[in-house]
Amino acid sequence: MQKPLVAGNWKMNGLAASLEQIDLIGAGIDDALRAQVDVMICPPSILVAQAVRKANESSVLIGGQDCHAMASGAHTGDVSAEMLKDAGASAVIVGHSERRADHGETDVVVKAKAEAALRAGLIAIICIGETRAQREAGSTLGIVGSQLAGSVPPGTAGQIVIAYEPVWAIGTGLVPSVADVAEVHAFVRTQLEASHGAEGAKMRILYGGSVKSSNARALMSVPHVNGALVGGASLMAADFLGIVGAYR
Ligand code: 13P
Repeated sequence: MQKPLVAGNWKMNGLAASLEQIDLIGAGIDDALRAQVDVMICPPSILVAQAVRKANESSVLIGGQDCHAMASGAHTGDVSAEMLKDAGASAVIVGHSERRADHGETDVVVKAKAEAALRAGLIAIICIGETRAQREAGSTLGIVGSQLAGSVPPGTAGQIVIAYEPVWAIGTGLVPSVADVAEVHAFVRTQLEASHGAEGAKMRILYGGSVKSSNARALMSVPHVNGALVGGASLMAADFLGIVGAYR
């Protein structure tokens, strides 16, 4: 079975002083919990190297939030997967709905970024999810299926993690029902098995969108939910540890 992953996405939040939270997270995870779940924080890219130095003292993994598809070149302001790897990151989030919406990232772009992550030796955490309008129109599985088909490159279960994040659940306090989460995650598993065979059967599928300590246990016990991608509740160690503790 997959070892679950609980990853925190700090988005555009946090200054150097915030890295203290990584110490506190590390200190809050004992060997028994460490054996149950992988724990990751994805700070803004400017903090990745410092975060890695902090995290080296604990078992917390560090990831980036985005990368360019190219390894280097004339791309002012962008960060490559190779640079994140060089800074000590072990993963990178690609295709977050905020990148898709704010920066016009298409499935083609997201797939190229995921390929860059794999090329650099990073785990690609590939985000998918429907908008409220798409859910209300009954097209959730169609959207999720086309995002999977378009955004996920060939790769192994050790290289690729999928994060299902319904756009309408992000930062809103709204969470799909357990039955709705179960339906989408089972569908994602079936699609991954069709596209990636035995590796697809083992890939971790995270749920993201308003995960809190109060709902983590219920969400994390849904079949084919292999962890969480957490936004707001990852900024403070106490909140985040409450979610990680669902795996205790
Ligand atoms: P929230 O946990 O703040 O809803 O954010 C989820 C998310 O977008 C993680 O990538």
